[in-house]
Amino acid sequence: MKVLDLIKKAKEAQNFSFSPYSKFPVGAILEMKDGNLIKGANIENASYPLSCCAERVALFSARMKGYKKEDIVSLTIVANCDNYCFPCGACRQVISELMPKEAKIYCVNKNGEYLKLSIDDLLPHAFSDGDLK
Ligand code: THU
Repeated sequence: MKVLDLIKKAKEAQNFSFSPYSKFPVGAILEMKDGNLIKGANIENASYPLSCCAERVALFSARMKGYKKEDIVSLTIVANCDNYCFPCGACRQVISELMPKEAKIYCVNKNGEYLKLSIDDLLPHAFSDGDLK
């Protein structure tokens, strides 16, 4: 799918954000090899640390629909910020485990401009399952 279409869908996902505390809605779209799109938005809580980022909501939702990492093509992240919306450190760790290494990550700014990144760009030298052996 074209990046501009993914950005449009990620903006639609942003409308599902529950972010009364930060007032910073984030939308995410996972593009799957079968053509499906899975949305995520940040879901906050009055107990602030329990909040969950848009990226993790989308990735966990994909798992619950039965998808595996190799089914994912790309992740697009949008927010109303001047800078590109980069995933936080916790999400980078989850992305590195739940997305295939060749997947693309599009970080979008409020003007709809984007950076195309790899998982290794975001989290080089990641801790992984192999390190647990
Ligand atoms: N947030 C995301 O959902 N994704 C990001 O990439 C950055 C931050 C959320 C977490 C919190 O609900 C709000 O944005 C402000 O940090």
